[in-house]
Parts: sequence; C-alpha cells; structure tokens
Amino acid sequence: PPRDELGLTVFFTGLSGSGKSTIANILRVKLDEIGGRKVTLLDGDLVRKNLSSELTFSKEHRNVNILRIGFVAAEITKHGGLAICAPIAPYDAIRKQVRAGVSAHGGFVLVHVATPLEVCEQRDRKGLYAMARAGKIKEFTGISDPYEAPEDADLVIQTTEMSAEAACDEVVRYLRAEGYL
Ligand code: ADX
Repeated sequence: PPRDELGLTVFFTGLSGSGKSTIANILRVKLDEIGGRKVTLLDGDLVRKNLSSELTFSKEHRNVNILRIGFVAAEITKHGGLAICAPIAPYDAIRKQVRAGVSAHGGFVLVHVATPLEVCEQRDRKGLYAMARAGKIKEFTGISDPYEAPEDADLVIQTTEMSAEAACDEVVRYLRAEGYL
C-alpha cells in the first residue's frame, strides 16, 4: 500500500531540554487537524510516569524503557495509527532495534532534535542539569552518562535559531515530501 495508507511512527530523540516534548505536543495537535490517522503521543516523562515507573536511568533500564515505547509504537503502527515518541533514547543500538520492529508494520521516521548540550544546560527548565553538575543526580545524560547522536536520523532539527512551531512545520513538510501525509 502507498505510504499515506500505512501506520506511522515519528520517533524524536535528543537530550533532556532539547525541545522534544514541546515539538511533539505541537505536532500532535497539527496532525490531529490534518486528520487521517489517530495520533498517540508517547512522551518520555509521561511514559516514565505511567509505563516505566519502576525503571532507573541505568543503560539496561533505559533500554527496557525504549523497547517498551517501541513495542507500543509498533502496535499502533500495525493498526494504522500514528505514534509520536519523545524519549531521550540515548543508545543507538536500541533505536535501531525499534526502527526494525516498527518498520515491519509501517513507516518509521527518526527525528534528531539536535539542540547542543550547552543550550539545553543553559535553559535548564527543570533544574536537572544544575543538580547533575552538583552530583545530586547520577547518570545524567550529557553530563555523566552518554548520548549517542544518531547517524541514521531521517531528519535533524536545529532548535537554537528556530521556534518549536517552525521545527514542527519542518517535520510536517518532511512527512508530506516523503508521502506519509
Ligand atoms: S531515556 O533515557 O529512558 O530515554 P526518558 O526520556 O525516559 O529517558 O526520561 C528522560 C527524562 O527523565 C528527562 O527529561 C528528565 O526530566 C528525567 N531524568 C531524571 N533522571 C535523569 C537522568 N539520569 N538522565 C536523563 N534524564 C533524567
């Protein structure tokens, strides 16, 4: 079937404070307006609260978290829906595993929200970077834990000189150009 008749997963990855959630929320509203597929947002913080509340931020637990998100996204995609995922997802191998799992059922688009660490840390909207620097949070992504920037992103978004609305427009433009919408 043509791409616009398939289910779809749009998977955002990026550092904490990079703008993933903000862009994902705007995208959800925009895609609802456009219509076609039912949209489900699997935001990092909401998944942590509702689906992965027992997990830590160790490499093993992060990977379990991402595989859960990937499983739900694959189910949504299989049934013709549209899943928007917005976790940090710092590890390349697990992102690739999710891509493979979802691609078996429909479209998969990896979007790297490539806001530099310095900018995320400067914003520090949740105050977590300051706590991580002070050693009060261990294994904090970008400070004391790795972030493997994807080399297989379908789209890279620079948020430093772009509003979240404009970033969302870029995603929509990409999805249209690729025939998903
Ligand atoms: S992931 O690594 O498993 O993909 P996830 O997106 O679910 O991470 O959760 C990230 C959010 O948890 C961050 O935005 C931040 O608010 C919070 N958080 C708490 N501890 C950490 C940590 N050690 N590293 C990164 N984020 C953390």
